[in-house]
Amino acid sequence: MQGARPLSACAGTSSCPSASSPSISPGADALPESLRRVQQIVHQPILFQELDITNEAALQELFSKHRFSAVMHFAGLKAVGESVQKPLEYYRVNLTGTIRLLETMKAHGVRNIVFSSSATVYGDPKYLPLDENHPVGGCTNPYGKSKYFIEEMIRDLCKAERDWNAVLLRYFNPIGAHESGMIGEDPQGIPNNLMPYVAQVAVGRREFLSVFGNDYKTDDGTGVRDYIHVVDLAKGHIAALKKLKENCGCKIYNLGTGTGYSVLQMVQAMEKASGREIKYKITGRREGDVASCYANPALAERELGWKAAFGLDKMCEDLWRWQLQNPTGFSKN
Ligand code: UFG
Repeated sequence: MQGARPLSACAGTSSCPSASSPSISPGADALPESLRRVQQIVHQPILFQELDITNEAALQELFSKHRFSAVMHFAGLKAVGESVQKPLEYYRVNLTGTIRLLETMKAHGVRNIVFSSSATVYGDPKYLPLDENHPVGGCTNPYGKSKYFIEEMIRDLCKAERDWNAVLLRYFNPIGAHESGMIGEDPQGIPNNLMPYVAQVAVGRREFLSVFGNDYKTDDGTGVRDYIHVVDLAKGHIAALKKLKENCGCKIYNLGTGTGYSVLQMVQAMEKASGREIKYKITGRREGDVASCYANPALAERELGWKAAFGLDKMCEDLWRWQLQNPTGFSKN
């Protein structure tokens, strides 16, 4: 892998700076400004090329221009609700895009990939904490299914062609922001996820949080999730890249902390971090939500030497710094 660089594939999707994705998602969740700020943080230029992952010719051209040691594949549409409305778009971008990426990698002799998967592949947990042997595939929406199908595709590829190495990372609930406060989550439109919404209530952009149900079988009745600091998550990817160098074949790891917190615990933690009251109202359950979901992260610790280092206070403090310094996200008004 010497002399070559890892490629981070985030092309033509909602998670790509300035990506254009016609007819889907109100706006890109990542913006060119985010990349400019990353360059300020790392004090070096970052080579960036925008392209549509479903555009085979563009992928071919990219791989012809550069020599890559590995690909980190984040490109995909990612809104659960939207995927139910527009399944074909989700399968076209996520599945076709991945097939084209894998084919292009193969054609250019790049056989190392880290894939951004999700705990959603586990569906409704049959037991907790979730380890990597828990049955997968019981997803209730096209977004989740696309993650599962891609996992299966990559596994089959590694079985058929032994020179491939893949690390499939099953993310739990990433939150927080870089501790500089310069980069963080900036959902376009109304946030789907809990913590960006909570942060916007704290900063005064939204009046109150709707808590989706308080009649689950959990300690306080609200949903329990395994929230993980986004910087810990990023470090998990570095550990995965190192694993690829061992010619590991296909490996799957949970990236979570192993601890579950309820919605109300998250609200409290954010009130503590921000020093502000966060108003909320209990509303009905959101369709497709499960009561509890948290990881057994032991395998990643054993085999990747990776373990989440940051706790809930740090996650909320960093999220709050980002939100306070950037009340309207990356845009200026
Ligand atoms: N919640 C609220 N109010 C909100 C938003 C969320 O009460 O406004 C609750 C949810 O009901 C859930 C918890 O907060 O109990 C977390 O919800 P998120 O939407 O933040 O996260 P999810 O666990 O539902 O979703 C995450 C990822 C998805 C992935 C899914 C399943 O964001 O990409 O896990 O693994 F598909």
